[in-house]
Amino acid sequence: MPTVCDGASVNYSRGSSIVNKFDKNFEKCYHKRKYYDTKYEFIIPQMSHLKQSSAEIPAALGGTPVFERTPEAPFPRLEQWHQMTEAEAQIAYEMTLRNELSGASPTVQAFEAMWRERHQTRFAISVVNGTAAIHSAMFGLGVGPGDEVICPTYTWMGSITPALMLMAKPVFCEVDPSTLLIDVADVRGRITERTKAIIAVHLWGNVCDMDALMALSEETGVPVIEDCSHAHGATYKGTPCGSIAHAGAWSLQGSKSVSAGEGGMLATNSAALFERACLLGQVNRTVDIDAEHRNYAYLPMMGLGVKFRAHPLAIGIASVQMQKLDALNAGRRAYIDEISNGLREVPGVHSVSRYPGAEPAGFFGFPVHYREEELHGLPAQVFADALRKEGVLANNNPYPAVVGDGVPVFSGGMSTNSNPYPLLHTLPLFAQGLDIYTEGRGALCTPAMGGTYEGYSVGALPVTEKACSRLVFLPLLTNPVPHAAAGVLTAIRKSVAHAEPLARYARGIENVK
Ligand SMILES: Cc1ncc(COP(=O)(O)O)c(C=O)c1O
Repeated sequence: MPTVCDGASVNYSRGSSIVNKFDKNFEKCYHKRKYYDTKYEFIIPQMSHLKQSSAEIPAALGGTPVFERTPEAPFPRLEQWHQMTEAEAQIAYEMTLRNELSGASPTVQAFEAMWRERHQTRFAISVVNGTAAIHSAMFGLGVGPGDEVICPTYTWMGSITPALMLMAKPVFCEVDPSTLLIDVADVRGRITERTKAIIAVHLWGNVCDMDALMALSEETGVPVIEDCSHAHGATYKGTPCGSIAHAGAWSLQGSKSVSAGEGGMLATNSAALFERACLLGQVNRTVDIDAEHRNYAYLPMMGLGVKFRAHPLAIGIASVQMQKLDALNAGRRAYIDEISNGLREVPGVHSVSRYPGAEPAGFFGFPVHYREEELHGLPAQVFADALRKEGVLANNNPYPAVVGDGVPVFSGGMSTNSNPYPLLHTLPLFAQGLDIYTEGRGALCTPAMGGTYEGYSVGALPVTEKACSRLVFLPLLTNPVPHAAAGVLTAIRKSVAHAEPLARYARGIENVK
């Protein structure tokens, strides 16, 4: 059985020390206009017999970067897409003048109607954020004290933390290492008589194996919530994601493909679920459910008096964003396809798989599988760092960079636009538990806190841990500048072709720690 995690046992020091040394060298050498540390000059003479031009040699080993870098702009702007434009500002301006600032305003109702139509669901309602959408869906399903909710450990914590607010226990499951999505066979083994819901996250826009998941749901009677926060516009066998399971939830947070700044959407075909969801968070809003399907008609429309309603201005902005969604998806798909096609013959760097019938969209991040054993043992962090030296804002997924242990989530001190997530079971909250409601109450109370929660240790979900330690995130682009994809591919090919000297270089740095 899993044990409560001792955070100190997490070993991430090797990779990050290499990268820190790499970065220090880079800064030092860059300013001297000299690209390698004198301690490692032995690498360059060994490479000179290759008679390579400077452009062919990785910038990390003294060559010329693919994309020109300056101390002021270490990463050239490869993106021409502007997420927010005059149109979003205009609608917010006009709505303000119309005093459309609260409640189910005409813009909000029109947006929800459009959402229902696009996703082919009977009901759709806006909420304050994606976490509230998942909270509403869980409440709608009747998740409550003593229940269990199964969720992949590889997702954003908002996929599962609403369960804690409902006093239900999170049960983490593995992902399929090839797709990075919920492993349905693993879920089966974790279902108990207390399981009340399964969260299927279409992570990074990739689409879960919905046939297998819904078959399991039918067999066991456990409902499924689709978390579509990364996958706006994605479909499975032609059906919009978010309409396949019992409920769909979307984040419209600022970095998402459809941004409200802050916002969320819930959609479902179930009147019972919808009525409960509205009861929870849509205070004073008339719920459009016919009388025969209402279970709580005796409650006045203020429901529980809790307010998860979205701000109308945010929904106004999202309504403009929705008009651009198909163009955004087309741009990202073309860019990702170009890179993925280019990677076919490249050892060590492989595209993430898709299930048959899956049509990914949204693409909140662009991970690729990295195989150091195919590249002379070159660590993923050093590979990602070598790409950054080429001006490509890449990052490896620094599992297990446990937030809260003083470890930066972003290696090399640089953030990327493809955020890696720490695995949830390694977070102190889920690993060590918390007396959330004080006095030994709540689902995360360990025996020491007066409960039965066992916590998690590193190693508890080995398949996901291994898969996530072997990811590299590439820049995600929507409307790239000309030749951006070709440049990213060149940077990858250069680094792959020089994996052996890069690995020796990294080992040299490690030896002088
Ligand atoms: C997969 C996933 N689920 C849920 C959420 C929560 O959404 P929000 O931040 O809008 O509450 C996010 C946010 O990033 C997410 O990435």
